[in-house]
Amino acid sequence: MQERIIHSLRKSTDYLSGEEISRALNISRAGIWKYIEEFRRQGYEIDAIPRRGYRIRATPDKLLPWEIKFDLGTKILGHNIIYKETIVSTMDEAVRLGIEGAAVGTIVCAESQTKGRGRLGREWVSPLGKGIYASLLLRPKSPLSEVSQLTLVSAVAICEALRAVSGVDAKIKWPNDILIGGKKVAGILTELNAEMDRVRFVVIGFGINVNTLAPQLPAHATSLKLEAKKDFLRVPVVQEILRSFEKWLDIFEKDGFVSIRKRWKDLSFTLGQKVKFIEPSREIVGVAFDLAPDGSLLLRQDSGDIVKKNSGDALHLSAI
Ligand code: BTN
Repeated sequence: MQERIIHSLRKSTDYLSGEEISRALNISRAGIWKYIEEFRRQGYEIDAIPRRGYRIRATPDKLLPWEIKFDLGTKILGHNIIYKETIVSTMDEAVRLGIEGAAVGTIVCAESQTKGRGRLGREWVSPLGKGIYASLLLRPKSPLSEVSQLTLVSAVAICEALRAVSGVDAKIKWPNDILIGGKKVAGILTELNAEMDRVRFVVIGFGINVNTLAPQLPAHATSLKLEAKKDFLRVPVVQEILRSFEKWLDIFEKDGFVSIRKRWKDLSFTLGQKVKFIEPSREIVGVAFDLAPDGSLLLRQDSGDIVKKNSGDALHLSAI
C-alpha cells in the first residue's frame, strides 16, 4: 500500500485529494492519514491542505523500495526489493532468499552494513546512508563453467551506469573493480549456490561509494562525490544500475560473452598495464595484454611466456 500511495502522489501534478486516493486504492481516509504520518517519520515532507489534499514536497535520501520502483522501467530486475536500515551483510539475506526460492531479480539493499564483505575475505566499509550496498539474486541458465563471466558482465553494467549518472570516466580493473582515476569507487562480489553441475542461483553484491567522504574510505578508494564534486541522490543511481544490469544480462543470455568482452575491453583500466599476481607459491608479473574469450586475463611476462589468470587480485604496478 505504501508503494501505491507514494506512486499516486508522485504521478499527480497537483495536490491529490484524500477522497481520490481513498477511491482509487480502496482504503479509508483514516488509513491514508496513518500512512502519511508514517511517511513523515521516514523523512518525507508532505503538505496536507484541507479540501485540496496531499502533495510531496521533499523526499528523504533513502533507498526505499517504492522510490526505486517508481519509473524504473525494467522487465524483471528490482521488482522485488527488500530494504533494511542496517543489516549484517546484504549477501547473507540474498542467499537466504535464494534458498527460499525468491524470484529472479530480487534485490536486497541497506543503508548500512555491520559486516559488509569484499572479495578475498576483505571487509567492505559501509557507512550509513552514504553508499549503495546491495545484492541482486539471479538464476542464470548458463552452465557452471560460464558463470564466472557474470562477474565481468556485472562490471560492465555498473561501470556504464556510473558513467551515465555522473559523467565520470569510470574504468574496470580486472576482474570487476570499478575505478575512477585509479582509485576504487565500487566493488562487486559474486557468490554462487550450485550443485555438481547445475547453478541454483547467483548473488551479485555491489558496494558503491556514492557520497562517502575521504575519512570514511579505505586507502586507494574514492567516491562519486569526491570525483564529481557534488552530492548524488542514491535512488537514481540504483535505478540506472538495475537498467544497465538488465540490458547487459539480456545481451549475455542472447549472444553469450562476445559483446560483453568487447565492451569490457573498451572500459578496461587493466589492459596495457604491468600487473603482479601474488600466489601462495609464486609471484607472476607481466603486461596484461588481452582478455581471453572466456574472461581470463592474459599476461605477457618479460621472458615472453604467456600466463592465463582466471582468479586472483591484480596489483597494478604501473598505477602504484
Ligand atoms: C570487493 O570489491 O571486494 C567486493 C565488495 C562488495 C561489497 C558489497 S556491499 C553489498 C554486498 N554485501 C556485502 O557484504 N558485500 C557486497
